[in-house]
Amino acid sequence: MIDPMRIGVPREIKAQEFRVGATPACVTGYVADGHEVLVESAAGEGAGFSDAAYVAAGAHVTKDAGETWAQDMVIKVKEPLPAEYPYLRQDQLLFTYLHLAAVPALADALMQAGTSAIAYETVEGQSGEFVCLSPMSAIAGRLSIQQGAKYLERPFGGRGVLLGGVPGVPRGHVIILGGGVVGTQAARMAVGLGADVTILDVSPRRLADLEELFGGRVQTLFATADNLATCLCRADLVVGAVLVPGAAAPKLIRREHLGLMQSGALIVDVAVDQGGCVETTQPTSHVEPVFTVDGIQHYCVANMPSAVARTATQALVSVTTPYGRRLAGQGLLAAIAADPGLERGLNVHAGGVTHPAVARALGVPQRPLAA
Ligand SMILES: NC(=O)c1ccc[n+]([C@@H]2O[C@H](COP(=O)([O-])OP(=O)(O)OC[C@H]3O[C@@H](n4cnc5c(N)ncnc54)[C@H](O)[C@@H]3O)[C@@H](O)[C@H]2O)c1
Repeated sequence: MIDPMRIGVPREIKAQEFRVGATPACVTGYVADGHEVLVESAAGEGAGFSDAAYVAAGAHVTKDAGETWAQDMVIKVKEPLPAEYPYLRQDQLLFTYLHLAAVPALADALMQAGTSAIAYETVEGQSGEFVCLSPMSAIAGRLSIQQGAKYLERPFGGRGVLLGGVPGVPRGHVIILGGGVVGTQAARMAVGLGADVTILDVSPRRLADLEELFGGRVQTLFATADNLATCLCRADLVVGAVLVPGAAAPKLIRREHLGLMQSGALIVDVAVDQGGCVETTQPTSHVEPVFTVDGIQHYCVANMPSAVARTATQALVSVTTPYGRRLAGQGLLAAIAADPGLERGLNVHAGGVTHPAVARALGVPQRPLAA
C-alpha cells in the first residue's frame, strides 16, 4: 500500500484550449480513494465546471499554477508548453497528451527534468486500441466535416460548394486519408450530409472493415500515390487522418500536389498533432484556424476537440480517470507492471525515452524500463 497521492490539475494555457484534465466527478473518485486534489482556479471554466463545483467535490482550489504542478501527479489535457517546462521535475508523474514526436524540445525538457510522463495517446487497451486517443479522434473526425463544410462556404474563403449538393447538382467530394477512428467518424458525418466520400488507407483489413461498415456508401481505395493524385484532382474537402503510432505523420500530400487541386478546395489536416500528413501544414489555433497556400485553404487546428470542450472533457475523463485512479492508488511502477497497455503509455522515465516508436521518431536510444 503506498501513501495517498497529491494530485494537481492545472488550467490549460494553450491558446483556445478549454478542456480540463479532471471534472468535479473525477475529483469525487480520487478523494474517495483517499487522495488530495488541488485544482487551479478557473481550470474547468471553459468546459462549464466552476471552482465551487470542484470544492463541493472535495478539491482545494488555488490561483497559483505552480502549486498544482508541485503535486505528486499532474493531470492535464495538452502537452506542456515552454512556459510550463520550469515546472517539470523529478518524482513527478505527468499524465496528459504529449505527441512527443512532433515536439522534440518537450521530450528534451522531460528527460532533463527526470519527469515520468505517460502520454494518453500511446496507452493501449486490451485489443491494442489507443483507448485514450479514440474519444478525441471521434470528436475531431466529426468536427472535421463540420468545419470543412463551413470553410467551403464562399464567405469563409471556400469554393462555395454544399457538401450534400441538391437534386440535379453534384455532391461535394470528400477525400479521407486514413480510415481509422478520425477517418471513420469523418466519413459518417460526410455520408450523413450526403457528400460523395472516398477513404484511402494502407491497411487491407481496415479497408475491408470500412466496406462492411458503410455498405457501399463510401468508395474505399488503397492509399497509393496514383489513387491519391486522382482523388486530389476532384476533391472539394480533404481530411488528413493518418496515424503511424508514436511516429511523425507521413507527408502524403506534398506541395506540388496542391497544384492538382481545384482552387478554393480545403484540406483539414487532423493529423497536425503528429506533424501533419501534408507538407504545407502548419499548426493553427481556433483563433485563426485557416491559411491558404497555392489557392488551397488549410485548416490545421491541433486541439480541435477543445471547440466542444464540454463534450470533449466528459469523453476524455471517462477513459483517462480509471487509469489515473490506478496510477494514484498503486504508484507508477506497480500500475504499469499490472497493465502492459498502460506501460505502453509511458513515454519518458528516469531521463530517457521508454516508448520504442517515440524513441525512433526522436532519433534517441530507447531506454528500457529498469527492473
Ligand atoms: N487535431 C486534433 O485535434 C486531433 C484530435 C484527435 C486525433 N488527432 C490525430 O488524428 C490522427 C488520426 O488518429 P486516429 O485515432 O484516427 O488514428 P487510427 O490509428 O485510428 O487511424 C489511422 C489510420 O491511418 C492509416 N494509415 C497509416 N499510414 C497510412 C498511409 N501512409 N496512408 C493512408 N493511411 C495510413 C492506418 O492504417 C489507420 O487506419 C492522429 O495523428 C491523431 O493524433 C488529432
